Amino acid sequence: MVDVLVVGGSGLLGRALVRRAARSGARVAATYHRHAPSRDGRPLDIRRRDDVVATLRRIRPAAVVNAAFDQGDWATTADGAAHVAIAAVDVGARLVHVSSDAVFSGRSGRYTERDRPCPGTPYGAAKAAAETAVAAIDPDAAVARTSLIIGGGESAHETFAHALVAGTASGVLFTDDVRCPVHVDDLADALLELAGSAHPGTYHVAGPEAVSRHELGTLITGRALPAGLRVDSGLPGARDVRLDCAWTRARLGTRPRGVREFLSR
Ligand SMILES: NC(=O)c1ccc[n+]([C@@H]2O[C@H](COP(=O)([O-])OP(=O)(O)OC[C@H]3O[C@@H](n4cnc5c(N)ncnc54)[C@H](OP(=O)(O)O)[C@@H]3O)[C@@H](O)[C@H]2O)c1
Repeated sequence: MVDVLVVGGSGLLGRALVRRAARSGARVAATYHRHAPSRDGRPLDIRRRDDVVATLRRIRPAAVVNAAFDQGDWATTADGAAHVAIAAVDVGARLVHVSSDAVFSGRSGRYTERDRPCPGTPYGAAKAAAETAVAAIDPDAAVARTSLIIGGGESAHETFAHALVAGTASGVLFTDDVRCPVHVDDLADALLELAGSAHPGTYHVAGPEAVSRHELGTLITGRALPAGLRVDSGLPGARDVRLDCAWTRARLGTRPRGVREFLSR
């Protein structure tokens, strides 16, 4: 019997979910798409609904955490999330779906769990569509929105900041692009706590401190980094998105650390 199946177990968050679940003594299984993990995992493309249903019927997990997505692919991020929800309902598994602060446009800055998605990018729209599909298919599911995921030097945010310092990447980090970064282990623990509970609804699991991407890069590298403004860049995407986590904090024992705490030297 598998306690928790991590869909997208080869990704940054998925690997942490597998690690933290195993550490807590849970029986854990994981799927991957293009990158087979060193530990055992099962290949699965969540765009293929029948394959998703067949995989869950074989594994019969008590809970599923869906950490799979592909930023440029609606079929994975939105349709794939619906397929995982259909399969979870089919086998009676508890579903925790991982969503993003990208469902918000950033026009009002601070967003609670009760705020409705108002995406400003195709990626944000796919994540918002996924939330809607998951809630419609599996009203008992938990949807957990998170912010920039940091940890172990493995995140894209850490890699880019270090590459700027090394001179192997060029560009700037925005001072007007504000988020609430979370450590990948804290996020994984909160998601596993949700997986072990039965409460439905939308949760916000992010760090308690808001910082700009430029401040974040400085905290990661301890070095002065080139700064710029997203508003001047012409790039799409929200500027200021702070996830208000008060409602979630009142319901979860896991306490995500602030970015200054987990990146302090
Ligand atoms: N990273 C952040 O800063 C951030 C911020 C907010 C929200 N999130 C959310 O957090 C979740 C995890 O993000 P992450 O950074 O851990 O992502 P990631 O490292 O890019 O991992 C994505 C995972 O999805 C899998 N995948 C991609 N296409 C798939 C498909 N068609 N079928 C099945 N699996 C597929 C990948 O498998 P392979 O690698 O094996 O191909 C990988 O395991 C996502 O829901 C994302 O929206 C992330």
